[in-house]
Amino acid sequence: MRIVLGVSGGIAAYKAVEVCRLLVDEGHRVTPVLTDAARRFVGAATFSALASDPVPEGLWEPFEGGIAHTRLGQAADLVVVAPATADLLARYAAGMADDLLTATLLATGAPVVVCPAMHTEMWEHPAVTENLATLRRRGVQVVPPESGRLAGGDEGTGRMAEPETIVRAVLAALGPDASPTGFSGAVAPGVPALRRGDLAGRHVVVSAGGTREAIDPVRVITNRSSGKQGHAIAEAARERGARVTLVTASALPAPASVDTVRVESAAEMEAAIDAAARGADVVVMAAAVADFRPKVAAAHKVHGVPELVLEPTPDILAGLVARRRPGQVLVGFAAETQDVVGRARRKLERKGVDLLVVNDVSAPGAGFDHDTNEVTILCSEGRTTRVPLGSKRQVADAVLDVVVARLHGSAGGPADERPTAEHETGHTGESR
Ligand code: CTP
Repeated sequence: MRIVLGVSGGIAAYKAVEVCRLLVDEGHRVTPVLTDAARRFVGAATFSALASDPVPEGLWEPFEGGIAHTRLGQAADLVVVAPATADLLARYAAGMADDLLTATLLATGAPVVVCPAMHTEMWEHPAVTENLATLRRRGVQVVPPESGRLAGGDEGTGRMAEPETIVRAVLAALGPDASPTGFSGAVAPGVPALRRGDLAGRHVVVSAGGTREAIDPVRVITNRSSGKQGHAIAEAARERGARVTLVTASALPAPASVDTVRVESAAEMEAAIDAAARGADVVVMAAAVADFRPKVAAAHKVHGVPELVLEPTPDILAGLVARRRPGQVLVGFAAETQDVVGRARRKLERKGVDLLVVNDVSAPGAGFDHDTNEVTILCSEGRTTRVPLGSKRQVADAVLDVVVARLHGSAGGPADERPTAEHETGHTGESR
């Protein structure tokens, strides 16, 4: 496949050489496009020697086959920018096209992956945060920077992700055929071959965690959900090739290469989910959204015992069902303690979702206080898949197996045929 490797001017440009080599080793045709600033860090000759194509000179120089930026943009199967400096991100977000790299980014319809690299202060600047949010909204995938040593001997967040991590994100975005040599980093070790890339090209939105509803600036109403199950679903979907947006009320770290939106209340979660879900193929509502909140959050700290007047929160899932786009798969979660399947079946019908994942929170080893989880997945067509006690990741993959089957038009899915064989007892999951 044809990959444009954009390199902008940061010290991490030296690591882009390795990204180039790894992608060429995977059999891809790589054209490096360097900004002027990138050339101050690494010479074009280094990239030309390693890449499949020589480094094009620039926007105004002659280019074999026509106009450089349109040819490159049109032919690309993917554009990856590593490193992406604050300046490059700003120009791209603003729609500028003042050099060959930004012009190519504007001229392409292919997936774009950006790998930011900069000093911590710059990474945390609101301008950078907002530019990245803009790009994410437009479908650009962000491979977040890591913490560690930075230029000039400083330490902190902002160091570009490692070449293997970047190549893994690129290969996942390209789909299952992108790694003929079975690049060791292409998928997590736990993902069986059959699942690799089966969500490539799809946009999956996942909610996670328990929302927090303000009583006053100090106190909240919340629940016991930690968000582990939702985070595991986001991570599993990403490793199966999807572009993933995780809207989370949990403090857990963001899974790698997942666009993560942090929220607190049901209202914030509703706004973030609605924005993300518009173009999504799949929405999984694994969050434990508070069912009620104080009608009024006090502006100042309440002294003494307040008399709380509560009101229901917006039903986010109901809103999704009302606005669902054709072919979109909507997955709800529920917790029950008795007549689990019967109640869940009625809930699925009432809610109008495609799949309902129900936790039997009274079962031994399942529930909020346990490390394992056990669920039943109900399909709107009437099929039921039991997923025995297992890790959060095993449960996540079992849910995604049924989702994938639905996306491919088979309502029941592979998990129905083999409900127990693949999901052995794990040790790290919990109820949600
Ligand atoms: N949900 C939501 N918005 C809410 C409440 C819940 O989107 N305000 C979603 C949850 O994310 C979950 C599903 O709806 O996917 C749970 O439905 P719910 O009816 O709240 O089920 P339970 O939590 O089991 O509660 P109950 O039985 O009281 O209805």
